[in-house]
Amino acid sequence: MIQVIDLHKTLGTQEVLRGVSMHISPAQTHVILGRSGSGKSVLLKHLVGLFQPDSGQVLVDGEDISKLHERQLGPIRKKIGILFQSGALFDSMSVSDNIAFPLREGGITDPEVIRTRVAEALEMVDLAGEEAKMPENLSGGMRKRVGLARTIVSRPSCILYDEPTTGLDPIATDSINHLIRRLQKRLQATSVVVTHDMKTAFHTADRIAFLHEGAIYFEGTTAQLRASTDPVLLNFIEGRSGESD
Ligand SMILES: Nc1ncnc2c1ncn2[C@@H]1O[C@H](COP(=O)(O)OP(=O)(O)OP(=O)(O)O)[C@@H](O)[C@H]1O
Ligand SMILES: [Mg+2]
Repeated sequence: MIQVIDLHKTLGTQEVLRGVSMHISPAQTHVILGRSGSGKSVLLKHLVGLFQPDSGQVLVDGEDISKLHERQLGPIRKKIGILFQSGALFDSMSVSDNIAFPLREGGITDPEVIRTRVAEALEMVDLAGEEAKMPENLSGGMRKRVGLARTIVSRPSCILYDEPTTGLDPIATDSINHLIRRLQKRLQATSVVVTHDMKTAFHTADRIAFLHEGAIYFEGTTAQLRASTDPVLLNFIEGRSGESD
């Protein structure tokens, strides 16, 4: 579904991506792990054309999107939904208007259709009936789920999740992890989950990639990652910094 080929990107003076290649297969959940600042969010933004690479390609269903202009990206954005790390809700809009936003942008105007689709999306994220609330009155976990409802309301065939569980308590995290699996089954969507939470990684992944020093250092199944004896991977999985007191 998505193929990333030898992606390079320098931001400021920093070479963030230094030859990233990866293959995202349809109807699977791919987890991208990596330390904070390793370029996970930057990589994800290349997959929807929010960043253009300095060199390399991003193929979506065979089409190279890396050189498309903003106005040519509409069909790609319909195909691929992204849940931003920050949630990125519009604070002045109700839950319902936030979720309806991509539908209205896509030219849907029938209020009945919008109402039904919003209710359906809220139901999928376990927030049925919360249409009227304002973002400031939501907990962190609810904000993530509203963001997710907005991502899935346009029925994308691929969903990108940027840190879906960061900042949530263990139970809310577990509930989002289940939700990611459920949505994948229900929508038959391809999913890419960026995280540094190992629990989320092992719960949701069919395959796991580890981004390190600007490139994919490891790619394989969760079983392969668990069996690895590579010190870089082990330190990350077990959360060791190598420092002593
Ligand atoms: N728009 C930008 N302009 C300049 N530098 C940027 C920009 N976006 C990201 N960077 C830099 O690129 C590097 C990678 O950032 P990125 O947000 O992809 O990290 P990350 O792996 O997602 O980290 P985290 O786990 O903390 O979210 C960082 O050093 C960051 O400062
Ligand atoms: Mg990030």
